[in-house]
Amino acid sequence: MTIYDDLYQFTEYIAPIRLSIHQYLLMTPEPVLIHTGTSGQTEKIIPQLKEILNSIPLKYVFISHFESDECGGLPVLKEHFPEVIVICSEICARQLTGFGYNVKTLIKRGGDTLEGDGFLFSFIDYPSEVHLQNGLLFFEEVRKILFSSDLMFRLGDSHGKILESAWRDEVYNIDMSRVPNEERLKSMKNELLKIDPEFVAVGHGPCVRVS
Ligand SMILES: [Fe+2]
Ligand SMILES: [Fe+2]
Repeated sequence: MTIYDDLYQFTEYIAPIRLSIHQYLLMTPEPVLIHTGTSGQTEKIIPQLKEILNSIPLKYVFISHFESDECGGLPVLKEHFPEVIVICSEICARQLTGFGYNVKTLIKRGGDTLEGDGFLFSFIDYPSEVHLQNGLLFFEEVRKILFSSDLMFRLGDSHGKILESAWRDEVYNIDMSRVPNEERLKSMKNELLKIDPEFVAVGHGPCVRVS
């Protein structure tokens, strides 16, 4: 079942810490997976992915930053989709190489775009990598979907759940637990206020329909 337009959501729920971890498949002629989830979660969603893809090869996997819930399942994914291209920041690509992940990467930074058959992504710097280096947020401009990774963070079992909120409030409410540096947080918020998403596909918690 899709959560918004042609966007599928998959969820691993870790009950003891009330954490939902979402992955998304944007099902276009050049399909895009946003985050692999943990290794165990990737194993679980592979059959569902294959069913939805219906023999169309998975073209891209977007990784916002190097962490197990965002890309722990990359080796598993690669076993099943050997041609998949990883879109990530420069530091993330270096982490992947350093940890022995043998994958094709395409490095993006804030302000870059990626046009494909049925989508246009723009990328926003997100100081989410080790030592506050830049990871990425993904904004799909055709559908106006922002993939917000660990921002807009809420707890609870939230598969398929959507709440309504104002974009300005969502941005205003990002605090230093998300980006623990005042200047970097402020400049990221300024970039976020330049876009006009209609839907926020979050990494954790309910998605947000933006009014
Ligand atoms: Fe994270
Ligand atoms: Fe996360």
